[in-house]
Amino acid sequence: MTPGNTLDASVPAHVPAHLVHGFDYYNAPELKREPHRSMHEFVKSRPPIFYTPHNGGHWVVGRSSDALEMLRQPENFSSDPQYNWAARVPRTVPQQYDPPDLTEYRKIISPFFSPVAIRAMEPQIRAVARSLIAAVEPRGGCEFLEDVAEEFPVVVFLQMAGAPLSDRHHLVDLADKAVRDPDRAVRMRVVLNLAEYVKASIADRRRNPGPDLISHIAQARFHDRPLTEDELVGMGVLLFLAGLDTVAAALAFSMLFLARNPAHYATLRRDPATIVPAIEEILRVHGVAGMERGVTHDFEYGGAPMRRGDRILFVPQLYGFDQPGLDDPFKVDFTRSVSPHLAFGAGPHRCIGSHLARTEMRVFLEEWIAAVPSFAIAPGADVAMRGGNVWSPVALPLVWPASGAAA
Ligand code: HEM
Repeated sequence: MTPGNTLDASVPAHVPAHLVHGFDYYNAPELKREPHRSMHEFVKSRPPIFYTPHNGGHWVVGRSSDALEMLRQPENFSSDPQYNWAARVPRTVPQQYDPPDLTEYRKIISPFFSPVAIRAMEPQIRAVARSLIAAVEPRGGCEFLEDVAEEFPVVVFLQMAGAPLSDRHHLVDLADKAVRDPDRAVRMRVVLNLAEYVKASIADRRRNPGPDLISHIAQARFHDRPLTEDELVGMGVLLFLAGLDTVAAALAFSMLFLARNPAHYATLRRDPATIVPAIEEILRVHGVAGMERGVTHDFEYGGAPMRRGDRILFVPQLYGFDQPGLDDPFKVDFTRSVSPHLAFGAGPHRCIGSHLARTEMRVFLEEWIAAVPSFAIAPGADVAMRGGNVWSPVALPLVWPASGAAA
């Protein structure tokens, strides 16, 4: 892997040399092609937990079995930014809290993300998917990420939040930079811009409350007190960021896979009930979002001598390949009875938006197969990938025989 990242750190004295292996989560050239397969190949030939000097220096947990155990130990591997120098400003709620506070914060938002609440949103989600597909279908092609995948979750989220749809282009741009800009200073600045947007939304909703998510958090209580301004902003920023880029990337990987594998697409069209297991299988091999924790005290875990304040990176993008009992992990098989993965994390922070994400993906694919009989990657297009907190194709030019085209 290529050294040279400006944030590279020297290796701390407590890390033994045999555990040091360069793993550049943002800039490794391997991330640009088949990131899941190549990073898996790299990691599986390294110690299960190793240290990389890249991106400020951090541990990397390479095996799903360790990740599962560690993510369930917030007392050792904490989400509190005091143990992680790279944590975001403002402090995101509930993501950067440990139990018991984490549990109280999650209670505030979880009713909006329950299976029942998401089922009630399905007609709205379907209407958004239909209108985005109707806008591109007659053209016979589109840049899927920009024209569809990035906009879809933003519009769904703005409706949920009760915010004006006219804000969507501004917000897509902020979300993109907040998670992907290679310059950490730019990422931080953009998150602060987003915080300003959230503050203004909360002030507006205090004046004009409604049944939406932002009005709900603006009136929420933590135990017996109202949320502070910082907590509200931290919650609003997280809710906004967590569900946009992740869904856009997961949809883009789904479409990339289906474009490259027309037989799998034909299966979905023939039997739309296969869409649900197909999504799990696609998430297993194309996980998108990573996770971080900080070590709370000096101790040894899995042969790695850790010190308080060490950062730990979990890579769910790779945890769908080493699951116990999984045959032929790189084969995408929509008929597997279970597609084990940790794409939505594990333990007390497991993704609160997973029902929404799965519903968005299912509804989108249902609408797409109804509108587009076959599609492919645009001839000559070179689909590059990018790494970072959320892995994604950089762009995805697709083509199909448009319904408006002359027969
Ligand atoms: C395919 C799409 C998605 C993926 C792959 C994904 C992945 C994840 C992962 C891995 C975590 C755990 C983070 C950690 O442990 O530090 C997480 C947490 C979270 N996700 Fe998602 N997510 C997706 C969609 C969504 C959506 C649509 C929303 C809703 C707006 C959402 C809201 C959240 C929130 C609020 C948390 C923090 C939970 C906590 O800290 O307790 N996510 N997500």
